[in-house]
Amino acid sequence: MPIEFDDNLGERLVSAEARHEDDTEGSLRPQRLGDYIGQEKAKENLRVFIEAARMRGESLDHVLLSGPPGLGKTTLAGVIANEMGSNLRVTSGPAIEKAGDLAALLTNLAPHDILFIDEIHRLNRSVEEVLYPAMEDFALDIIIGKGPSARSIRLDLPPFTLIGATTRAGQLTAPLRDRFGVLLKLELYKTDELERIVTRSADILNMPIESSGAREIAGRSRGTPRIANRLLKRVRDWAQVKADGCITREVADEALRALEIDHLGLDATDRRMLRGIIDIYDGGPVGLEALAATVGEETVTLEDVYEPYLLQLGFLSRTPRGRCATKYAYDHLGLAYTAQAEKEPASEQQTVDDWMKKV
Ligand code: ADE
Repeated sequence: MPIEFDDNLGERLVSAEARHEDDTEGSLRPQRLGDYIGQEKAKENLRVFIEAARMRGESLDHVLLSGPPGLGKTTLAGVIANEMGSNLRVTSGPAIEKAGDLAALLTNLAPHDILFIDEIHRLNRSVEEVLYPAMEDFALDIIIGKGPSARSIRLDLPPFTLIGATTRAGQLTAPLRDRFGVLLKLELYKTDELERIVTRSADILNMPIESSGAREIAGRSRGTPRIANRLLKRVRDWAQVKADGCITREVADEALRALEIDHLGLDATDRRMLRGIIDIYDGGPVGLEALAATVGEETVTLEDVYEPYLLQLGFLSRTPRGRCATKYAYDHLGLAYTAQAEKEPASEQQTVDDWMKKV
């Protein structure tokens, strides 16, 4: 079953959601743990669990991968399958509509297959209930008939590994979360890790690149390999048309500047979000719903796609009363920062009117 692509993010080049233009991602995906750059903690744990399962000749315990989009959850599932020498079946939460769809998938698994369910938090409840006995006892409970004569029969399933991926581990129900033996949280990548990923991708795609060029792209990729690989392709176009084909620091900088991606990887939408908090809400705190309405995005998109990187940069803080822009955000936007205690409360109507004039 195909993985769903989320195109509702329009033309945003630095969105971390998978887009159709990322199709070549496949050829860039590392196949083995040794080629997978970054996520050292997760890799270290996986190495041990994989080796132990292989030594016992068993299937690996069920694995839950969580973290922001674009960090390589699907890639890691492929790596795990290769390391285990198992087949990988790929599907996603929204693609499994009925309990019967999942039952069909499960009964077609061979022993030690790996079933990957992306966006597992979006499984509906009746489908999820089929998963419980499947994960726990490798069994499928089927109800035959209706009313008083209904009876349940149990079908055995082959031992398999479920790998679930989610951007929102907190949204998983407790019974589902508790059935995963291995919980791995993927983190945003560091710039030097992204630099190695960009260099490796350029090598695979036969693009001449200088290390300073790779670093420039890495630093503007929001800690996310999918964005790094996407920016690399756009910079390659620029290098071909506007320069001699080699990706230098200058070429990368020029190309990314033309795409309105600043030196930290923020695009016009990020800046608009920060300006919204600062200009309308005097730097915050502002509730997520109000902020989403201000920037015209859904609350989940703000939480999953925009916030992780802004939080990591320290531009945004989450407080019990809402989101606040920090001094670093003001500095980055070239605005004067006023400490919270010195602020005069302005009338809400006045601030909205002022902001409307500016944007
Ligand atoms: N391409 C995308 N993600 C990667 C990773 N973590 N390591 C190597 N190449 C990648």
